[in-house]
Amino acid sequence: MNLLSRKATCNAHGENSSYFLGWQEYEKNPFDETRNPDGIIQMGLAENQLSFNLLESWLANNPDAAGFKRDGESIFRELALFQDYHGLPAFKKALVEFMAEIRGYKVSFDPNNLVLTAGATSANETLTFCLAEPGEALLIPTPYYPGFDRDLKWRTGVEIVPIHCTSSNSFQITESALEKAFLEAQKRNLRVKGVLVTNPSNPLGTTMSRNELNLLISFIIEKGIHLISDEIYSGTVFNSPGFISIMEVLADRKCDIEVWNRVHTVYSLSKDLGLPGFRVGAIYSNDNRVVTAATKMSSFGLVSSQTQYLLSVLLSDNKFTSNYIFENQRRIKERHEMLVSGLRNAGIRCLKSNAGLFCWVDMRHLLKSKTLEAEMELWKKILYEVRLNISPGSSCHCTEPGWFRVCFANMSEETLNLAMKRMKDFVDTNTTNGKNQSHQNFTRNSRRKLLSKWVFRLSFHNREPKER
Ligand SMILES: Cc1ncc(COP(=O)(O)O)c(C=O)c1O
Repeated sequence: MNLLSRKATCNAHGENSSYFLGWQEYEKNPFDETRNPDGIIQMGLAENQLSFNLLESWLANNPDAAGFKRDGESIFRELALFQDYHGLPAFKKALVEFMAEIRGYKVSFDPNNLVLTAGATSANETLTFCLAEPGEALLIPTPYYPGFDRDLKWRTGVEIVPIHCTSSNSFQITESALEKAFLEAQKRNLRVKGVLVTNPSNPLGTTMSRNELNLLISFIIEKGIHLISDEIYSGTVFNSPGFISIMEVLADRKCDIEVWNRVHTVYSLSKDLGLPGFRVGAIYSNDNRVVTAATKMSSFGLVSSQTQYLLSVLLSDNKFTSNYIFENQRRIKERHEMLVSGLRNAGIRCLKSNAGLFCWVDMRHLLKSKTLEAEMELWKKILYEVRLNISPGSSCHCTEPGWFRVCFANMSEETLNLAMKRMKDFVDTNTTNGKNQSHQNFTRNSRRKLLSKWVFRLSFHNREPKER
């Protein structure tokens, strides 16, 4: 007899996705420049390691902040006892100012409307708990961050209905795609409670246009539903057109309070500051009832008081924040260009992007056929033979086979160059006169070289990742 709960034993966590399986394979054979130069390079992790030295030098110059001290006096006991789930006022004030600074001060945030959470993961789940019942639905444009299946569905029992976007218009949201998703939810007898978008997008690396944002606002007004804007990558925008927050469009349209109350923003310091381990996220809502309920729920995922204290001092240092935002974006842009030109050199094109820590890469021409099976086959080749862990589009619910998300900010320049070299060698071996050879030809040519890997690959086949 099973003595565990259905929640504990159900499959809805999503860890069977190729997105997470790629991470597991990477863990077994991780690349290291000296110890394991033939290992798998992790390009499936949207981490920002480009500006650590800026944070480290600030810490070296401000030892009191990390040493539990204020004006030279220890505040250890104060921090050790602090557990108010409303959060440290000084931190909330510093965080909303940082959020406004990233948005070029075009919008401002009231700290009273902010709820602190353990990362955007917790923020998105908490908001879902506040807005929807089990069996109700959120609409999300595809391709989307694979973690949403875990964050929004698993514990809440809420369903996701995809808004299908395609390469025909660079994956932008259209009115007809929104209407189709709404109809699809109705057909499945699911009441739609809201739309959730990620702006800038993970995995596309693009910012939403003013048109798209206006379209979304009109849609949620017409349907009487909520809008969640996950703006976790707002500080990574490195090229024009710049970032437009949903808050800016609401203000421009002079929306009435009833609409403002239905639009909620999610933020986190995991990407812009590169601190996913610190677990700092936030919900921003104009609806008092959402703020009150989410604050109570935040007891299950608070941000520790020493983290709040350290970051309140860091983010209150305006000279630091303005330099950090500028320099971090410059470094992201540089890396992005390295990836784009490295792939171009291998005959591979990326969707034009201006934000994020990754590119949305078009490898349709390398597929054996235009199917999701062929996409998985190519993904496995790239994982086991080229030894790069990238994320297949199907793990992001993209319906067009052949797109992959490739991350570039979690490794050194040398590692990125090596990854590009491996990719070029792979394409060159796989291509004759610019035309993609069949899978069989490639396998025959490389068979001897790959013989030692068959045992490993066969054991992987026994645990075939589930397609979505
Ligand atoms: C769009 C999006 N939302 C939320 C998260 C989760 O972030 P956090 O580490 O703050 O929980 C991620 C992480 O990759 C993400 O890409």
